[in-house]
Amino acid sequence: MRILVLNGPNLGRLGTREPDVYGSATLADIAPLVASAGTADAPIEPVVRQTDDEAELVGWLHEAVDARTPVILNPAAFTHYSYALRDACAQLQGVAPLVEVHISNPHARESFRHTSVVSAVATGVIAGFGLDGYRLAALAIASRA
Ligand code: DQA
Repeated sequence: MRILVLNGPNLGRLGTREPDVYGSATLADIAPLVASAGTADAPIEPVVRQTDDEAELVGWLHEAVDARTPVILNPAAFTHYSYALRDACAQLQGVAPLVEVHISNPHARESFRHTSVVSAVATGVIAGFGLDGYRLAALAIASRA
């Protein structure tokens, strides 16, 4: 199964960005983690992308809708205020699963991170488990397939 693994702004800097919050692993570590949720009978093919650009991220979600491709999405700071992103995510409802992932637990952080405009249109949310959240999201998607 192909899974689009989409990452929003500043996540390209994983590894050097606030390592006390986000750890020392990098974006390159995500693909093997997601693939590890697959089995010989049901392999997972992760397509990992990152952008700092809201329009590009919205375009990738449209691509997922058109191809009916499951999505793991870490919307990063867009989580908290991008209605454009939310509206793009809403188009996946009833089409393909969308799992919202956060490396940190936003609810344990500043109050502006407690709001997600995406969660209500996501299939589910995984937060606070570090990079392993991406693997857990892939397991959740695979278990629904
Ligand atoms: C994040 C949490 C967001 O609040 C923050 O803006 C990010 C990363 C996370 O993965 O923990 O950039 O989505």
